[in-house]
Order: sequence, then C-alpha cells, then structure tokens
Amino acid sequence: MVETNTGTVLFDPFITPNPLAVDIDITIIKPDHILITHGHGDHLADAQTIAKQSGAQLIANYEITTWFEGKGISNVHPMNIGGNIKLPLGKVKLVQAVHSSTMPDGTPGGNPVGFVVASERTFYYAGDTALTLDMQLIGEQFDLDFAFLPIGDNFTMGPEDALRCAEMINCNKIIGMHYDTFPYIKIDTLAAQRMFEVRGKELICMKIGESITL
Ligand code: NI
Repeated sequence: MVETNTGTVLFDPFITPNPLAVDIDITIIKPDHILITHGHGDHLADAQTIAKQSGAQLIANYEITTWFEGKGISNVHPMNIGGNIKLPLGKVKLVQAVHSSTMPDGTPGGNPVGFVVASERTFYYAGDTALTLDMQLIGEQFDLDFAFLPIGDNFTMGPEDALRCAEMINCNKIIGMHYDTFPYIKIDTLAAQRMFEVRGKELICMKIGESITL
C-alpha cells in the first residue's frame, strides 16, 4: 500500500491466505483505490473484502474489473495497457507485463499489467513480469523516484533481471516483492542486496507489516 498526501493506493492484496502475513489485520485497511495487476489468486485474494469494507475504487484491466463486478463490486474502473487515468492523487498508467493472468475460477483475466503512478513521487509497480525491453520506455517517459520489482525468480524476474530492469528504467531505489512467500520463490535476499549495491542501486526488502517513508 502506498500512502500519499492526496490518497492511498493498495496493490494486489494477498494477505489472509499468505502464510507470512498472519499478523496483518485486514479490517483496518481502507485505501481509496485498489490496483490489480493480473488475475492470479496471490494478487487479489482479499480485494473483494477490502473493496467492500472501504468502498475503494478497483482499477484493473477490463476482464478483471468485469469479474469483480460479477462478485458485487460496483466501484470499478476498467483500463487496458497504454491507457492513463487521472486520480486525485495523480496520474496512473497501465504498462506492459510479461506473465499470465487467469482468474482463480479459470475465467480469462486479460493481459497482465504493471502500473506507473505519478503522484508527489513517481513510481513503477511492475506486478509479476519477466524482464522485457519495453521497460526502457518507462525509463524514457518517467523520472522514477522508486520502483517495486519482483525478485523471487521462478515465476517472475529473479534478482539479476530485476537489477537489469532497474538500470533500464533508470531507477536507483528498488523495493523487492514476490519473494520468499513459497518454497518456489525463496531467494538469498542479502546476496541480492549486495549485487544491487555493487551497481550503485538500493534493493529494499521490507518486513511484513513494515512502513517506510520514501
Ligand atoms: Ni502471477
């Protein structure tokens, strides 16, 4: 979740089924917007509950917002890759991600996406993705203050490709995500952080429930 002075955005909520997040109380999570990158269960498990309790607007590709409308969530905003939306907290752009996107019940979830949010700070939330040359466009179009990149390997980029991505998007402050939750994506975070440091970049590996100011 990212809090700005003009609003709060929650990305890909996967909390109650997450074995590492047992201490997080989801009843107090009240964002203004919920942004979903793709249809996998480990990215949207708590989206319906949090959308209902908060009235937050759910923003995702058309296939995903339609699926949530079928679950009784009416405050949705459908988009697709390349599109922008202007929110009170700033501008949000959907960008390419290279992954898959089937909903938990087998419904096609459209194409996976990432988001670039231009608020008081400008940041890229990559979602689940492989390294792709398209990321260079993000570095050319935006002056990023920080970026959330997957580092867990196996299903997404590993640390080496995430570092290459950080160079392509011209961003020095990276928050790692999508690692250690399951055996398939366990990595050596200290080794990954050292690898970034050698190239003059910072890889932040937050603890569950931790808050940082950027
Ligand atoms: Ni995924």
